[in-house]
Amino acid sequence: MQTEQVRNIVLVGFMASGKSSVSRALSRRCGWPRVDVDDEIVARAGKPIADIFRDSGEEAFRELERSVVRDLCVDSGRIIAAGGGSFIDEESRSAMLTGGTVFYLSTTPETIHKRVTKGHPNAPVRPLLAGGDPLERIKELLAQRGPAYAQAHHTVETDNLSPDRVAEAILKICGPGLGKNTRSNK
Ligand code: S3P
Repeated sequence: MQTEQVRNIVLVGFMASGKSSVSRALSRRCGWPRVDVDDEIVARAGKPIADIFRDSGEEAFRELERSVVRDLCVDSGRIIAAGGGSFIDEESRSAMLTGGTVFYLSTTPETIHKRVTKGHPNAPVRPLLAGGDPLERIKELLAQRGPAYAQAHHTVETDNLSPDRVAEAILKICGPGLGKNTRSNK
């Protein structure tokens, strides 16, 4: 792939697949600023994601997500970390696929389960995993979402890799020189 073809780097994948930490590692390495779709949603709504789900429901959340994704994807030279369900939504997925090079950070259900339940006491509340058996819910959602995630431009298996190693793998795919010539002045 030619470096100039990478307009934005877009990270997609299940909840807790490491999108935020990998986006930070990428930003440190290539100098592009990182933006987080969930953070932007929270800023626009003025409340946490769990409250948006509780007060207005998932469809209202997805609508907000669509408009944030649309706005972020028109810029260039950014690392965009997207929420786990955004790439499942057809409109958001299409905006990401045309607005950047999309990397799916693939993770097993067991790894995700470990990350959302153990050792991450401060992990943000994930409304879609609340209630019931979380591992079963993760498996079910991953199976539903697999066909959408498979449409990413690239897949990186992340189970045994640190965020820095994942960032290295992504930058290798993007090619040398990324971040030097392609960043917009915004
Ligand atoms: C969601 C993932 C969350 C957040 C919301 C919905 C999903 O983001 O956007 O809770 O549908 O998978 P993370 O992937 O950053 O946890």
